[in-house]
Amino acid sequence: MRLDVFTLFPEWFEWFQTQRHVRNVVAAGSELRFIDYRETTPLGAGQVDDSPYGGGAGMVMRVDVVDAALEAAYGAERGARRTVLLTPSGRMFDEELAIDLASEPELTLLCGRYEGIDERVREHLVTDAVSIGRYVLAGGELAAMVVADAVLRKLPGALGHAESALEESFSDALEGHPEYPHYTRPATYRGWGVPDVLLSGDHERVRGWRLERSRERGETASGGS
Ligand SMILES: C[S@@+](CC[C@H](N)C(=O)[O-])C[C@H]1O[C@@H](n2cnc3c(N)ncnc32)[C@H](O)[C@@H]1O
Repeated sequence: MRLDVFTLFPEWFEWFQTQRHVRNVVAAGSELRFIDYRETTPLGAGQVDDSPYGGGAGMVMRVDVVDAALEAAYGAERGARRTVLLTPSGRMFDEELAIDLASEPELTLLCGRYEGIDERVREHLVTDAVSIGRYVLAGGELAAMVVADAVLRKLPGALGHAESALEESFSDALEGHPEYPHYTRPATYRGWGVPDVLLSGDHERVRGWRLERSRERGETASGGS
């Protein structure tokens, strides 16, 4: 995958790039770029924002600035890419969307700042608007990292054990439910035990127990508690 993130703070992603699954996908051939809108802004002195039409607090990132950044990166091919605007008012990010985005050969994430980005970007320059939750972050960088993290770990070679991704929360193997609980040594700690079935060595019983717990968690989660 070729993943590009447009941001005013590319240095935020330095840590992200050191993470093992990210390094693994890069070693396997993926390309990641973190592109600063200021590098291509058509305005003077690195300006990227302006005051909102209609008045109100804060500044808005300009459509011509975002357009210029996309033009510089992709030229005539810009319309062909899956391009995601991170915004609190977008479609809620979930496992289904992570799988969908992971199937793209090329993916672009746009981070906003300030009051957000001129609406014409959403209207004309992107394919998706995505939120990572019903709360407001100071900028799109953490949202882009959440999306990139979830997407990149779906790519071949990202994880040390490929099986880890087959049977995890929301996967088909668990019928779309959250994952079952895990336990490890010691078998007893402060008097807190481990379910007997996990110590039984009976793989069929363990499988059945895990699927039951996973279904239970799914019911609890959908019940909202
Ligand atoms: C301070 S926020 C803008 C909030 C906007 N004025 C509003 O009330 O919806 C600045 C940027 O952070 C990002 N952002 C904030 N919260 C987000 C969320 N929950 N999901 C995705 N992106 C988010 C977006 O890129 C947004 O343009």
